[in-house]
Amino acid sequence: MPADTESAPRILRPTRAEIRLSAVRENLKKLGKAAAPARLLFVVKANAYGHGATWLARLAEREKLAWGFGVSSVEEGLALRASGLKSPVLVLGSLYPFESFVEAINSDLIVTIASLDAAGQVIEAARKLGKQAVCHIKLETGMGRIGARKPAVLKIYDELSASGAVSVAGMYTHLSSADTDAEYTAAQLSIFSETAAGLEARGARGLILHAANSCAAVNFPDSRMGMVRCGIAAYGLAEGFEPAMSIKTSVVFVKNVREGAYVSYNKSFRAGRPMKIATIPAGYGDGYLRRFSNKADVLIGGLRCRVLGNVTMDMTMVDVTAVKDAAVGAEAVLLGRQGSEEITAGELADIAETINYEIVTLVSARVPRVCIE
Ligand SMILES: Cc1ncc(COP(=O)(O)O)c(C=O)c1O
Repeated sequence: MPADTESAPRILRPTRAEIRLSAVRENLKKLGKAAAPARLLFVVKANAYGHGATWLARLAEREKLAWGFGVSSVEEGLALRASGLKSPVLVLGSLYPFESFVEAINSDLIVTIASLDAAGQVIEAARKLGKQAVCHIKLETGMGRIGARKPAVLKIYDELSASGAVSVAGMYTHLSSADTDAEYTAAQLSIFSETAAGLEARGARGLILHAANSCAAVNFPDSRMGMVRCGIAAYGLAEGFEPAMSIKTSVVFVKNVREGAYVSYNKSFRAGRPMKIATIPAGYGDGYLRRFSNKADVLIGGLRCRVLGNVTMDMTMVDVTAVKDAAVGAEAVLLGRQGSEEITAGELADIAETINYEIVTLVSARVPRVCIE
């Protein structure tokens, strides 16, 4: 039975995303062991990739499964603080507008500094508040997103350390291709080590050095250094880990149609024979992509049932001709297991020509997340 819900206090519509805490717990333990002695930063940005950031961060803090949390924005960090979390929180994005530094320092968020401009701004904000700011410097090694190159990193370090207002606690980079290109990853890591040596030569001591995402943490021991930043594996969407999210609903309507009947907008499916069709209350308004039209399967009665016609905003039609007891109220699984069948985020991602990250992150806010132990 559901133990808790993060939104929608009274749920009537049966569509929900179930999040198995035990899966996240085991995944974090496994990552922690693989990374040790490096610490673990649990990346919970974008509402924990759609899984619900608050309760997963609470679980990790309560059971000491991670050193701290990675978020993308000050807002996400403030939300964790508002829910009482005390662990270190690193804001992985570049802060703008610069007033954000004040909010971040006030709430003890660790900020990322990726330019000399930002370094000047964080010093000013810390002085204005009369409170020491803590930052990690971000190095560009080949991701091409945010980050300063080596000479700028050294200057940023000098400026921040000389200010007395900001403590530099770490330096990091982001690996762009750890899952696809070992050579490029090695080249990124080599730029990183050179820069770390440059910082050490300037007197930097005890910095937390980090580069690894989930894939690198598991496959590139050299990338682990002082900390690994794991998202996708914690949610069980990397090989060897247990998926935490299932999306379930119930059939709300069943009908028999004759050969030649059309289903959904623009006659996007035509029955080639008499069929039994179920309607489920989930559609692209829930993040169940229109790309799944006529291609994805839904599990009902333990069988794979093909989506028929276009997925609509709130409802999707499914072929239940082969399902014996297909009736209103029957459980339908859009993502996850039912009996011996399983629909994975990877399978849905292939259909939509995207990655499993996007499938779970796009589950919309109107889908209640139900947490189960
Ligand atoms: C800067 C940074 N670090 C770590 C991660 C975690 O990556 P993954 O989910 O592949 O473990 C991300 C996610 O995109 C990220 O942007």
